[in-house]
Amino acid sequence: MSRSLATTEPFSTTGAPTDQSMDLDLPSALDPIRLPAHVAVIMDGNGRWARQRGLPRVLGHREGVQSLKRTLRLCSDWGIGALTAYAFSTENWNRPGEEVSFLMTLFERVLAREIDGLDRERVRIRFLGDLHQLPPGLQELIAEATARTATNDGIHFNVCTNYGGRRELVQAARRLAEQVARGELDPAAIDEEAFAAGLHTAGESDPDLLIRTSGEFRISNFLLWQLAYAELHITDVLWPDFDEAALLAALLDYQGRRRRFGGVDPSR
Ligand code: IPE
Ligand code: IPE
Ligand code: MG
Repeated sequence: MSRSLATTEPFSTTGAPTDQSMDLDLPSALDPIRLPAHVAVIMDGNGRWARQRGLPRVLGHREGVQSLKRTLRLCSDWGIGALTAYAFSTENWNRPGEEVSFLMTLFERVLAREIDGLDRERVRIRFLGDLHQLPPGLQELIAEATARTATNDGIHFNVCTNYGGRRELVQAARRLAEQVARGELDPAAIDEEAFAAGLHTAGESDPDLLIRTSGEFRISNFLLWQLAYAELHITDVLWPDFDEAALLAALLDYQGRRRRFGGVDPSR
């Protein structure tokens, strides 16, 4: 039998997310009204975490899975609507072959092991990216997990796998151009909404908060369109060490920001 998402504790401790139970576990320092609806995370620093311990890089990836489970559980328990995690970029194929194969096998094993628990906890999982380049076994598991959890009403969990922001934009542009060439679409009808509908994230709100671990000040081709107005939180914590305190720090940082979206803040 598959293990549930959490091995030692229930995945969600809040039960049905009613208005009353939603913030039961929320740290008192956080304002439940001003939580980000959508958190995106660049899970970086697995290799450095391993190197610091004299371990092979891939053991950092294995540990990173525990961090992702922990983060998903916390986001779900704290009432955050969507978590989008960058697991493998279109540029990550440039890594040594053994590391790439390790990662693909890891994705497959983790998904096979966790899907029952995720479904039970009503998580809606999706994989965003150019999925047809992934190993066939992984593609099958992805299709199964996506279909099985499609109507779940819990947290939206998006795993960006073979994802590249530029590739996503080019593909969206190409599809629109094809529709125009077939005479099905008037170029004047292409607005921001129509364009966003052609992205992998169609239907999801844009991330309110982007977290990047391991102290790198760049977005590495992640969600180029969708991050237009995200608040950025960069922490030196390496991804395998990203824990409740680190997530809390990110959310507190977010709650201290004044989002203006190009306008003016009347209270300042
Ligand atoms: C992030 O950790 C995981 C992936 C990109 C798959 P890294 O593997 O990039 O770790 P560092 O940045 O080399 O420490
Ligand atoms: C970004 O991390 C990609 C993922 C976390 C999957 P990288 O480690 O690949 O990014 P760079 O190379 O430091 O920009
Ligand atoms: Mg890295």
